[in-house]
Amino acid sequence: MAGIHDKFLSLWLVLTSSLVATYAELQTFEHSAKNDGSLSFLVLGDWGRRGAYNQSEVAVQMGKVGEKLDIDFVISTGDNFYDSGLTGEHDKAFAESFTNIYTAESLQKQWYSVLGNHDYRGNAEAQLSKHLRKVDSRWLCLRSFIVNAELAEIFFVDTTPFVQSYFTNPEGQNYDWRGIGSPRAYIAKIIKDLKLALRESNAKWKIVVGHHAIRSVGHHGDTQELVEKILPILKEYNVDFYMNGHDHCLEHIDDTESELQFLTSGAGSKAWRGDVQETNSGHVKFFYDGQGFMSVQLTQNEADIAFYDVSGSVLHRWTTSKLLHSSA
Ligand SMILES: *[C@@H]1O[C@H](CO)[C@@H](O)[C@H](O)[C@H]1NC(C)=O
Repeated sequence: MAGIHDKFLSLWLVLTSSLVATYAELQTFEHSAKNDGSLSFLVLGDWGRRGAYNQSEVAVQMGKVGEKLDIDFVISTGDNFYDSGLTGEHDKAFAESFTNIYTAESLQKQWYSVLGNHDYRGNAEAQLSKHLRKVDSRWLCLRSFIVNAELAEIFFVDTTPFVQSYFTNPEGQNYDWRGIGSPRAYIAKIIKDLKLALRESNAKWKIVVGHHAIRSVGHHGDTQELVEKILPILKEYNVDFYMNGHDHCLEHIDDTESELQFLTSGAGSKAWRGDVQETNSGHVKFFYDGQGFMSVQLTQNEADIAFYDVSGSVLHRWTTSKLLHSSA
């Protein structure tokens, strides 16, 4: 009986949510590209501080750039609410750090968010709740999922459970591991689902988003667990970009062995940590220790990535052409 009930429940979920397809177990959301087939979006991380530490200033500039680029959506790389995520679905921080901050017309688009380690320090499930999506329809935060935006397919990965020290040496922090079960099995499943989804994807641009960096010269540096478990998959399936937050900076690191680019956008509020690490590998094209955000513009043949500071000035711009290194 339970099995039959589960089947009906799944069917009901498929019919009643905006879920339109599944690759293995990962929920996939469809997002149309522009009429000319292009796509543009902003990427922001590590932000929710009720406007403090230049969060509001960054939001204003995002509004301006968002309008100029006619963005289709916004990606949040996690650590959405400081210091410890949300206390529950009715936490006022949701309005104070999100709804009332990103008020520009151009930012009234879908926000696709992952959880960061600070989100796990509160009620992680609250951020995933349907209730918040009703309170502010822009909000969509899930653990791991896919956005199929025609030209690009974006794979969101819940990276916090990969980091072993949060389990073995949590430094006095409580993490909300409800819904994770066995971390080993949880991670194995993400890896399996990600591989399968990437293998089946025929999108022109493949992008993977997670909270933690694979390569970073910021405070936390490389995340060894992701270097071991995720990086080989990104290379095997020719992923173009890995985008993350966690380190409160903006950075662009070039993989020396493939076309993969590591892009950190974790500068949504508190920054200026003042420490820079040595990186084991990768070529650092750009690093900025202050606040800001990133924009991504994609066409069939070109990607244009730009990083902005708190006054909206472009700090670093990088373009690449698919024609030059097409594998087809
Ligand atoms: C806000 O941004 C300005 C310009 O980058 C910077 O000088 C200032 O230190 C920032 N404030 C904080 C609290 O980080």
